[in-house]
Amino acid sequence: MTSSGYSDGLGRDCVNIEPLTGAIGAEVSGVDLRGPISEEVFAEINQALIDHLVIIFRDQDLSPSEHKEFASRFSALQAHPFVESLDGLPEITEIVKEPWEVENWGGNWHADVTFLPEPSKGAALFAREVPPHGGDTLFSNMYLAYETLSPGLKELLDSLSAVHDSGEVGRFHDEFDGMQAKHAERIASVHPVIRIHPATQKKALFVNEEYTTHFEGMTVAESRPLLEYLFQHCVRSEITCRVRWQKGTLVLWDNRVTLHSPISDDFAARFDKAGFRRVLHRATFVGEKTS
Ligand code: SIN
Repeated sequence: MTSSGYSDGLGRDCVNIEPLTGAIGAEVSGVDLRGPISEEVFAEINQALIDHLVIIFRDQDLSPSEHKEFASRFSALQAHPFVESLDGLPEITEIVKEPWEVENWGGNWHADVTFLPEPSKGAALFAREVPPHGGDTLFSNMYLAYETLSPGLKELLDSLSAVHDSGEVGRFHDEFDGMQAKHAERIASVHPVIRIHPATQKKALFVNEEYTTHFEGMTVAESRPLLEYLFQHCVRSEITCRVRWQKGTLVLWDNRVTLHSPISDDFAARFDKAGFRRVLHRATFVGEKTS
């Protein structure tokens, strides 16, 4: 047995990768993320992330520092602009839904922080406290969102950019007792509607209903019909996967070519009975230019 738990025919460390759906997501097993993780195993994990866009590791036992260390192998990390990080670990955002709260932080379908001039490349989200059921997270494949458009619409969108706006910053903390506000101003940025992934050179749709407000050079009202169409188009069930959290699950995603949406299905909390606490730690990769 090798340190990753699996070996190839030549006795080298390797991991096991099981795709989750025909479109997006894979479970990766045979690796303890506390390390040490060899260069060859890390390269396989990185390739699995590029191939599947969302990868899931189960039964991990990571301290916040170990989580940060693992995430740092992929990228430098950044703090969230509007909510405080863990004490002493500015790279880790604690995402908390208290038992009496109905909505999960993160809201509707989105990619993270697309209102920044250089939106994050990805994230490593680790489950510390999860409900016995519910609070799953959906992901969608934005390469497929692009590829399944008609040639005419692809051509039109290729020439467009869109404004991504954080909106009032209170939305990131006011309704969440477990999230601490940071003093910061509202942020908006312009990005191409179609972006090219630097590693694959493939095109992906880059809009999301949480932050994209309008096309550059058009009004919100003029933009709305086409944006509404795209928001629906990019979350069709056949291009999504659903991640069920367990304590110790770590999910990595490529934020350049996916959207995600935590499902707010704590109906016990919604109807005034005791709901469930949900605590995840997110290490967010720094951003890069979108064009
Ligand atoms: C997020 O938007 O990063 C949070 C996702 C989640 O809580 O499942």
